[in-house]
Amino acid sequence: MPADETLVACQDAALTFGRGAQAVVAVHGANLVITTGERLAVVGPSGSGKSSLLHLLAGLEQPTSGKVIRSASLGTFGIGLVFQGDSLIPALNVLENAALPLVLAGRTETAAQEAARAALDLVGAADLAERLPEEISGGQAQRAAAARVLAQAPRLILADEPTGRLDHATGTRVLDALLTAADRTGAALVVTTHDPAVAARLTVRRSMRDGRLLAPEEIS
Ligand SMILES: Nc1ncnc2c1ncn2[C@@H]1O[C@H](COP(=O)(O)OP(=O)(O)OP(=O)(O)O)[C@@H](O)[C@H]1O
Ligand SMILES: [Mg+2]
Repeated sequence: MPADETLVACQDAALTFGRGAQAVVAVHGANLVITTGERLAVVGPSGSGKSSLLHLLAGLEQPTSGKVIRSASLGTFGIGLVFQGDSLIPALNVLENAALPLVLAGRTETAAQEAARAALDLVGAADLAERLPEEISGGQAQRAAAARVLAQAPRLILADEPTGRLDHATGTRVLDALLTAADRTGAALVVTTHDPAVAARLTVRRSMRDGRLLAPEEIS
């Protein structure tokens, strides 16, 4: 695999919610190329469009104008998104939640749970395996959501404020787990964050302001 293979490319990709007077432009014509080996932090204030940009990259939202092109080599399960908000399935325990994408991808329950346990261990959440989402804290749920993506070993990991609800030590552990997993599997990693210390651990930093992805040199 060439080191600089393009996984996702945004070409003037814009995302507008609502219409007419109610329209909110969450992302203005963004141009961005994510290649294998990418270690990108997207920083910016609340409401600047970070989650919207990740959702465009993930294919969760279709651009209102412009294009988002994903490499065919990614396949169906090539992108893993760690959601910013609650995303665990309430009826499944933490282990079953983390194993679910692998089960859906056709792995046996045993193999899926083995990978899920290893991923939970990486983020320091192994002891939560048997708990239901309602029995864990928001920060613990965030770690379980990160483990669910790591278990899947995607080629592109998109993590939306993965340390947002964590204390410093736990946040460091989750970020370590994301970086380690990305290094080990050769995955690209994009992390959104408010935290300059988190952003500093990624190789490239881009800022968003009012829906605009600023050019690299405009980093503040
Ligand atoms: N589903 C939606 N419907 C309408 N407006 C939305 C929707 N999702 C986001 N927005 C708006 O789009 C803009 C960008 O939101 P987004 O969630 O991308 O920001 P963010 O940078 O991730 O913020 P935060 O740091 O608080 O997570 C905001 O003005 C927000 O209110
Ligand atoms: Mg957000």
